Amino acid sequence: MSEVLITKKEIKRYLNTDLPVFVFESLKSTNLTAKEYATKGAVEGSVVVALSQTGGRGRLGRQFFSPKGSGIYLSLILRPDLPPEDITLITASAAVAVCNMIEKICDKKPQIKWVNDIFLDNKKVCGILSEGTFSSDGKRAEYIILGIGINLFVPDSGFPEDIERIAGGIFEKNDKIDLNLIIAETVNEFLRLYDNLHNPDIVKGYRNRLMLMGKTVNYIKNGITESGKVLDIDNNFRLIIEKATGATEALQSREGTIKSSTLTKKD
Ligand code: BTN
Repeated sequence: MSEVLITKKEIKRYLNTDLPVFVFESLKSTNLTAKEYATKGAVEGSVVVALSQTGGRGRLGRQFFSPKGSGIYLSLILRPDLPPEDITLITASAAVAVCNMIEKICDKKPQIKWVNDIFLDNKKVCGILSEGTFSSDGKRAEYIILGIGINLFVPDSGFPEDIERIAGGIFEKNDKIDLNLIIAETVNEFLRLYDNLHNPDIVKGYRNRLMLMGKTVNYIKNGITESGKVLDIDNNFRLIIEKATGATEALQSREGTIKSSTLTKKD
């Protein structure tokens, strides 16, 4: 298990930049608290960390299981000059940043399940949720809250039944890890990429870890069920899918979801 407790001082010791860091024992959701701070003017790069969450928010209205002691839950306040359609660049960069952090700290090989879940040995070890508030004309983000939840260990009492087959931990129970370093490296790595969201290395880092690459997927696009083989992702992190007809189409996260995937025989 972890040796050092999470403290603001220790996190800041490892951070590359002098950013405001707020650490809480327990919050409903770090995304909600970060939102409150953002509306009160918190500077870009402010980090909200909680040791547990009672109402961790996941994508598509789901809950994110956030017990104390087996995971870390953090949100970053961002003020990017980006139109709403480019917010995907932030979540995708965060996925690459978490993978870079994992590879740096423990030399394991994480993969990205489109859109932004991180998997290790076929188990989900991290979920990412960006939530934005936009200008009244809807053209620009006022702020974006980037929430990252990382499962470090399988909890002693296991994961709840609904996620026990999917969720996993990055580390073994007796591994000695410094949670402050993991939090700081996640933030450092993300901010490094955030500095230039159009850096082609981000797409490359994402593509190299894409779990669905070459797989046949069943997906729902604009309410219609389709199937096809994943050929690639493009620079906007859209999945490029080849349908049975031979036609290709690009699937973006807000218009479609993957229902299942299989490896095609010839792969
Ligand atoms: C998902 O897997 O659907 C995304 C989960 C995102 C969870 C993180 S934990 C920190 C931040 N606060 C939240 O309430 N959610 C995000």
